[in-house]
Amino acid sequence: MTTAPSTVGVVGGGRMGAGIAQVFATLGSSVVIAENGDRAAAAERVATGLQRAAERGTLGGAAPDEVLARVAVAARIDELPTDAEVVVEAVPEIIDLKLDVLHRVEGVVGPQCVIASNTSSLSIAVLAAALDTPSRLVGMHFFNPVPASTLVEIIRTPHTAGEVVDRVRGWVELLGKQEVLVNDSPGFATSRLGVCLGLEAIRMLEEGVADAASIDRAMELGYRHPMGPLRSTDLVGLDVRLAIAEHLTSTLGERFAPPQLLRDMVARGDLGRKTGRGFHTWS
Ligand SMILES: NC(=O)c1ccc[n+]([C@@H]2O[C@H](COP(=O)([O-])OP(=O)(O)OC[C@H]3O[C@@H](n4cnc5c(N)ncnc54)[C@H](O)[C@@H]3O)[C@@H](O)[C@H]2O)c1
Repeated sequence: MTTAPSTVGVVGGGRMGAGIAQVFATLGSSVVIAENGDRAAAAERVATGLQRAAERGTLGGAAPDEVLARVAVAARIDELPTDAEVVVEAVPEIIDLKLDVLHRVEGVVGPQCVIASNTSSLSIAVLAAALDTPSRLVGMHFFNPVPASTLVEIIRTPHTAGEVVDRVRGWVELLGKQEVLVNDSPGFATSRLGVCLGLEAIRMLEEGVADAASIDRAMELGYRHPMGPLRSTDLVGLDVRLAIAEHLTSTLGERFAPPQLLRDMVARGDLGRKTGRGFHTWS
């Protein structure tokens, strides 16, 4: 039976890394985040997330400060705990950056540590090349916002050890989340299908089939999607979607070619909710 990891490392204290740290700390793990940028902002993201969780009643009666006390933010990867049972990297989606980070993580932790990537689309097998022991790398694709999202997509390569997958599956269950297990392939299951639908919706908007609100409502009411594909693109970020579409075009082919409208909107800074304007207006 899998038990909660007593010690966890997270690299990158941005939106995803802070959320991942929060959910492991809530489970009882001691967590060290390595964040080479604004450490105070990373700690603040965890504190705010815990406050929200307490308000929603999902902290199991614990006080936010009590959970926060289990989270430390360090500046460097070599300050991660050497006895970490799992380290999850959540640095930006830049392959050379991730390769460098993973290589450095392996130099710090012990041989039993599982190393996981939160990448949205990059090949886990390619990332595994950064490691001396590729069998310890697995994809742990959390969703945004991490504390409230149900799904963790687990991605294995032909080299990922079965024991590594089993441990990750156990932790996902302990976190109160549900898994889908997929074999390594560009965009996995979620990003590949999500981007596919989003790109077609953008092409329909370009062709004047309907306006953005109508395209979204068609999927929300007709297919019971909780959110239409354009609103979902706004939430993810148009720049993020464009980068994934370009990666999928280079790996899976022209059917993922980004529409010109998406390129134009990213070029003028209409990135979705984070900039206040995308396919919809956000306040
Ligand atoms: N945002 C989402 O909706 C979402 C969803 C699922 C997966 N992801 C994936 O999660 C990863 C992180 O995304 P995010 O949205 O949290 O990004 P983000 O930009 O909010 O956070 C990344 C953090 O990593 C830090 N960082 C960069 N280089 C570092 C280094 N060498 N050492 C330590 N810290 C470093 C940055 O300072 C930043 O705080 C990406 O791979 C992304 O594709 C994102």
